[in-house]
Amino acid sequence: MENIQEQEVFSMPRIGDKAPEFTATTTQGEINFPGDYKGEWVILFSHPADFTPVCTSEFMTFAHLEEKFNKANCKLVGLSIDGLYSHIAWLRTIKDKIKFNGMKNIEVKFPLIEDISMNVAKKYGMIQPGESKTQAVRAVFFIDPTGTVRAIIYYPLSLGRNFDELYRALIAMQASDKFNVATPADWEPGDDVIISPAGSCGVAAERMSGTDELECEDWFFCTKKLDKDLVLKEILKK
Ligand code: BEZ
Repeated sequence: MENIQEQEVFSMPRIGDKAPEFTATTTQGEINFPGDYKGEWVILFSHPADFTPVCTSEFMTFAHLEEKFNKANCKLVGLSIDGLYSHIAWLRTIKDKIKFNGMKNIEVKFPLIEDISMNVAKKYGMIQPGESKTQAVRAVFFIDPTGTVRAIIYYPLSLGRNFDELYRALIAMQASDKFNVATPADWEPGDDVIISPAGSCGVAAERMSGTDELECEDWFFCTKKLDKDLVLKEILKK
């Protein structure tokens, strides 16, 4: 029995898996996940507990940036192992009392899942017993419009997330999909992109003989320009 419980706690979706399905109560009503988000990206993220300072700073930042994520066709869904009334009280306190990083009066409008049963947290491997047996770590799942897990980032309890990186990763994955390219280290829209490595000796030779479009350091390392405005036009909603 203990083994089955442990397996539940440790199981987690991997990149390329379909996002595990669930229905849940949230601060914005019931959700059916990921079915309610077909055709959209979702960032599903967990936090350790309501009424804690790092989580509060993160929620204010997510709420402040929600519109920016929405413009990139991405919805936000939060979760912690707390009950609905705790969530409601915490979000009201944030709005009424907390100032952080120049932000105040922040209303969290995206759904926050109550997961007192740990049903969702277990499905998504958000409980990492070495860190805490009762609180979810700071997990971030990027789920694409087909309901497939595309990236996963985990942070420990004490470390607040970097929101520039979350947004950068979202835009980079969308650019990869749209333009069939890969993105190098620290890529931002407007930077050169990587094209897939040559798959034959002929293509390798062709690339090294030089083309107008490609810049090749070697046969396996070719980049090309990708216009920033084009990337943003294709990805961001007006
Ligand atoms: C926080 O959000 O401040 C926090 C939560 C759990 C452990 C440590 C810090």
